[in-house]
Amino acid sequence: MKKITIAIDGFSSTGKSTLAKQLAQKLQYIYVDSGAMYRAVALYALQNNLIENNELNTVALINNLPNINISFQYNERLKVSEIYLNGVNVNTEIRSMEVSNIVSRVATVPEIRQQLVALQQQMGAQKGIVMDGRDIGTVVFPDAELKLFMTSSANTRAQRRYDELIESGALVTFEAVLENITSRDHLDSTREDSPLFKATDAIEIDNSNLSLDQQFDKVLALVASKL
Ligand code: CDP
Repeated sequence: MKKITIAIDGFSSTGKSTLAKQLAQKLQYIYVDSGAMYRAVALYALQNNLIENNELNTVALINNLPNINISFQYNERLKVSEIYLNGVNVNTEIRSMEVSNIVSRVATVPEIRQQLVALQQQMGAQKGIVMDGRDIGTVVFPDAELKLFMTSSANTRAQRRYDELIESGALVTFEAVLENITSRDHLDSTREDSPLFKATDAIEIDNSNLSLDQQFDKVLALVASKL
């Protein structure tokens, strides 16, 4: 069976990773959450005091890049791929608001992007991959056979993320989550290096009013047209 590359981009909390995981499972493809990689670098910066008064010490972080080892391991029990930072499972830690509040700043640094993009391209070299992020269809895999661009209203997105965080036991307010999402969207879309935008050949999926099943069926039909 022919294997393709599926790139899923879009604003924060549009359900990219849920869709990407569903697709990977159905197609028996590898799933890579590229956002988790930027989050892991942001966590490293926090752990190593490279952020003071909300200011990132960019030079120190770049100098530390050789010491940042990011990998994924499949968790057989949970049936998900989990991210490791220097050998430690940080899958839950990277979703905290502390990380969310600085990750988009970290993701503006070209040296960091270069390193992570190279790793992402390596992971997708054999195709049979679903990757979600902000620059997957534009920069990482510009030749991907299927490119999706996900959108939904900011309120819908904030509500989803807020529910997820509350479910995981985090103490957050809806307003703080909404503010984080809108400020990240702004930074992600306006940064100089690899800004978030819809590739000309990407198909837009607005899921504000779509159930998960409806969305999945729609996308499976698109995949079938590429195989
Ligand atoms: O889960 P959520 O949609 O909120 O974000 P994420 O996919 O975990 O990504 C976190 C942040 O990493 C984004 O807001 C971007 O700043 C950055 N990112 C990026 O610059 N490029 C990517 N390919 C993926 C994420």
